[in-house]
Amino acid sequence: MSKVKSGAKLIKEGKLSYEWARSHMQILNNTVDRLKRSKPLKGVTLGFCLHITKETSVLLMGAKELGATIACCGGNPLTTQDNIAAFLASRGIHVYAWNGQSAKDYDWCINQVLRHKPTILTDDGADMNVKAHFDKRFKDLPILGATEETTAGVRRIRAVENQGKLRYPVILVNEAYTKHMFDNRYGTGQSTIDGYLRAMNLLMASKRAVVAGYGWVGRGVAARCRGMGSKVIVTEVDPVKALEAHMDGFEVMPMSQAAKIGDIFITCTGMTGAIRREHLLQMKDGTILGNVGHFDVEIDSEFLLKSSKYVRKVRPSLDECVLTNGKKVYLIGQGRLANLVAAEGHPPEVMAQSFSNQILSVLYILKNHKKMGNKIINVPEEIDRQVAVDALKAMDVRIDKLTLEQTKYANSW
Ligand SMILES: NC(=O)c1ccc[n+]([C@@H]2O[C@H](COP(=O)([O-])OP(=O)(O)OC[C@H]3O[C@@H](n4cnc5c(N)ncnc54)[C@H](O)[C@@H]3O)[C@@H](O)[C@H]2O)c1
Repeated sequence: MSKVKSGAKLIKEGKLSYEWARSHMQILNNTVDRLKRSKPLKGVTLGFCLHITKETSVLLMGAKELGATIACCGGNPLTTQDNIAAFLASRGIHVYAWNGQSAKDYDWCINQVLRHKPTILTDDGADMNVKAHFDKRFKDLPILGATEETTAGVRRIRAVENQGKLRYPVILVNEAYTKHMFDNRYGTGQSTIDGYLRAMNLLMASKRAVVAGYGWVGRGVAARCRGMGSKVIVTEVDPVKALEAHMDGFEVMPMSQAAKIGDIFITCTGMTGAIRREHLLQMKDGTILGNVGHFDVEIDSEFLLKSSKYVRKVRPSLDECVLTNGKKVYLIGQGRLANLVAAEGHPPEVMAQSFSNQILSVLYILKNHKKMGNKIINVPEEIDRQVAVDALKAMDVRIDKLTLEQTKYANSW
């Protein structure tokens, strides 16, 4: 069963897109090839709540090759690539996803996935895991465990654990070095520029780009904006991160100051209200705003879209908002993940790393769930290292090994 936008043309486009991504996700392909003869996921139903992109299709088709039955929905109402959803549905995967959903549709799709009674969940942002914990209809599902893909979901699932309410183990895939150091930094760095360029198609060189948050995502975005020739300003609340940004050569200042001089704003904080109405009202005419944090809470987009004098769509992912003070500001993708709404999300090479962590973590849960307890754990170190080894191999990079003498030296006091 599926609910997607369908049609032969979409399926054909989706297949091409899947093949293109697959041919650049060698690490994931190697992992699947290594395991597929024994069909380790045979008889297991997996529930996925992930952005339905070409890279995700490689993960889902890989899990299917390992024997799993799969139900999936999108990780956000606006990020589904309809051709990929149509392609996956044509391959026997239960897909509930289409682009341009309302919040109600999005919620309905998560419910449909849970109705397939998945025993392991893979989530991006924790919407599915939160529902599996607090929606009475799903509280008795026999879930063995779950994995979480992103920083925003990690924060939420930690809150569930802190309240003593976690009812199955959760592996934080985001916390693997081979995930956040590459996916959050290089993946979001590149795809954010891609999204902004597609949305506005304006020159980035010479403009002041304000990056809110200098975590893994912010570091990548700031570096790539600098690469495009922008003058980069960073805003932060953490003194250590602020110091790092300063030492990395970026201007650091509070948002109240940056709001008055920035030309382009990119929020990457994972926090609500990084850009509030008092900031918006100070902005220059023509300012471009967007968010790449997981949820659409970083910019007060409700104020922009509902309290402006008027709003009109001037390009496919760009709304012109005329504020009450007469100034025009432009919001990308209604304040939702600009790199996925206006572009295609991360490139396949980085997603191959993230998704190798995902598939190995799912297998780990299947084997170890009884002894894991209702706790959250990081990706086991052996998986993280294995993904790094596989990634280096796929990129044809070789490294040295410690000699016996060096090992002895390292262990001597
Ligand atoms: N768009 C994507 O494809 C994508 C990919 C990965 C992660 N994410 C999301 O991006 C967000 C950031 O992820 P991360 O891994 O960089 O997290 P992180 O925790 O490493 O970094 C967030 C940074 O924002 C700072 N911050 C918090 N509140 C702030 C505020 N009001 N003003 C300025 N700075 C503030 C924090 O101090 C921290 O340094 C999360 O929501 C995550 O889920 C998105």
